[in-house]
Order: sequence, then structure tokens, then C-alpha cells
Amino acid sequence: MNTDTFALTPRLTLRLHRESDLDRLVAIHSHPGVARYLLEDPWTQEAGKAQLERRLRRSGLADPAGALALVIEREGSLIGTVSLWRTEQEPRTVEVGWTLDPEHGGKGYASEAVTTSLRIAFEHQDVHRVLAQMDARNTASARLATRVGMRQEAHHRQDYWSKGEWTDSLIFAMLADERPSQS
Ligand SMILES: CC(C)(COP(=O)(O)OP(=O)(O)OC[C@H]1O[C@@H](n2cnc3c(N)ncnc32)[C@H](O)[C@@H]1OP(=O)(O)O)[C@@H](O)C(=O)NCCC(=O)NCCS
Repeated sequence: MNTDTFALTPRLTLRLHRESDLDRLVAIHSHPGVARYLLEDPWTQEAGKAQLERRLRRSGLADPAGALALVIEREGSLIGTVSLWRTEQEPRTVEVGWTLDPEHGGKGYASEAVTTSLRIAFEHQDVHRVLAQMDARNTASARLATRVGMRQEAHHRQDYWSKGEWTDSLIFAMLADERPSQS
């Protein structure tokens, strides 16, 4: 196991970001289907460099940055990302976000990675709640949140100005005492 490996799941490795991930990350995040419901525009190489720089510093929820940015690897290839970060309003609440290369969609890889990321978040004794927010049109993400056991708590009407229009957003959450028991 490499030293930057954070967790192994039945089919995947979750590890910290590396400088050498830039091209794969840009390839995934510049895909129009991936960027469609994210607040950010499809990544250029320049945007990717800035994002990667930030992610390289996100190495643990207990660190001063209070954030963990992981890549999802399948058989040695980077196929997506999953990130956790403490929110500004309440550091005992952690937000989770995810992306998957569409070429690897529909096989449950994102669910497997996100389930493990929830476990990683709740391993921190002070973490009380994990939330995920998404564009309400992002039905694949909403299904994923439901599949990993998060509850839909809200459907906000037109609360984000995103890419030239007001958009609705969904909030999903899981409390520490709602996490699935590990068997
Ligand atoms: C959101 C996103 C990660 C979902 O990807 P996904 O491939 O649907 O998710 P998974 O990898 O968990 O696969 C689940 C699908 O595979 C199917 N599947 C097949 N084998 C499976 C298995 N062994 N376990 C679980 N699901 C499996 C499921 O039925 C499900 O399909 P469905 O949603 O049509 O019912 C992806 O659409 C994405 O990256 N979107 C762009 C980025 C984004 O919007 N991020 C969210 C910001 S909040």
C-alpha cells in the first residue's frame, strides 16, 4: 500500500492527490457532463493547476485546513474524486462532494467511494453531521446520496445563481448516530 493511500474498498483505492494527477483531473473536470451541475466551469489546464494546488494541501479533517481531498483509483487509474471539508458555519459539520469519470459510471464506484468517505468523516469523534448539496436537476447525484444512506432534508428554490440562471438545490445529510453499522 502506498503511503498516500487513505482507504481500500472492495474495488477501489482512495488516496491523497499527487502532482502527477493533473492531466487526469483536467480530463474529468473538463467533461461538459461532469461540469454541467457543478458551480464551477469546465476546467482548463490553468484552472486545474490551481485546483490541484489547493487539493494537495487538503490532507485530513484533523489538519488546520480541516479538509481531505481524495482521488478514487480503480486498477491503478484515477477515475474520480471524493472530498470532505469542515463547513465555515459549523466545523463539526462536514460537507462531502464527488465526481466520477463518466466512462466509469453506472457500476457503483462512486457509491462505494462515498460510503467509505462517510466512514472516514465519522471516524473523527467530533464530526456530528455530514451534508451534501447539489443542483436539484442532478438526479444521478441525488440517487447516489440516497443510495449511501443520506436523507434529503431540503429542496431550496432558486438559491444559487449558477451559470447565468437561478437554480434550485437539494440538501442531503447523515448524522453521526445515523451512520450504518459496520458489519
Ligand atoms: C454523481 C455521479 C458521481 C454519479 O455517478 P454514478 O455512476 O451514477 O454513481 P455510481 O458509481 O455510484 O453508480 C451507481 C449506478 O450504477 C448502478 N450499479 C451497477 N452496479 C452497481 C453496484 N455494484 N453497486 C451500486 N450501484 C451499481 C446503480 O444502479 C446506479 O445506477 P442508477 O443511478 O441508474 O440507478 C456522476 O454522475 C458524476 O460524476 N456527476 C458529475 C459530478 C457531479 O455532479 N458531482 C456532484 C456534485 S454534488
